[in-house]
Amino acid sequence: MTGHYVALEGVEGAGKSTVAAQLAALLARRGIYTITVREPGGTSLGEGIRRLLLDGEEMEPWAEALLFAAQRAQLAAEVVRPALQQGSWVISDRSVYSSLAYQGGARRLGIGKVRSVNEAGLQGVWPELVVLLRVPAEEGLARQEVPDRIGGQGTSFQRAVAEAYELLAEEEPERFWVVDAGRPLGDVVEAVFEEVCRRWPC
Ligand code: TYD
Repeated sequence: MTGHYVALEGVEGAGKSTVAAQLAALLARRGIYTITVREPGGTSLGEGIRRLLLDGEEMEPWAEALLFAAQRAQLAAEVVRPALQQGSWVISDRSVYSSLAYQGGARRLGIGKVRSVNEAGLQGVWPELVVLLRVPAEEGLARQEVPDRIGGQGTSFQRAVAEAYELLAEEEPERFWVVDAGRPLGDVVEAVFEEVCRRWPC
């Protein structure tokens, strides 16, 4: 038996963490064993890398992309793959698609190149469904509580991230499901839950 791997994606302030937590709670209420993970982080190594990435000094774009890929490789091997193999569902607050949008798109490293290094690290552990919470860049930034090193890059960076997400969603229409996240969060959670249960009985 294998579980399902669902990732929540979007610009800063889109509400990913809240939606991830509430979606997991709704699934659990249906008797589905569910874990939530966040990126960067989710393992002891990953939390250490998270501090370097978000609280540390400026770094080269490729150093940044490879650190994100490193924490993700650890998370996939240590947490996500074993959970899926045990039949658990994994709800992830960000995923490899954040790297494609932020490092591949907004940092201009190239989506294809960033995808390749992550494919090497993930060995097939890839989100089956990516829920893109769509909010205008400015609105998301206004909602952001405490900007970190990457979240504090400003409006044009945030716009570039949003554009990259739209491109990714167009390229992979089967994998992506886009939801207007400017609505009240309760409505967003309900819509996401419905879509998930449409794809897999729950
Ligand atoms: P996080 O605390 O998760 O913030 P948010 O509430 O915006 O999700 O911080 C993650 C930051 O790291 C965020 O600015 C997005 C960025 N990021 C990348 O640039 N690439 C990645 O692969 C990931 C996972 C996150």
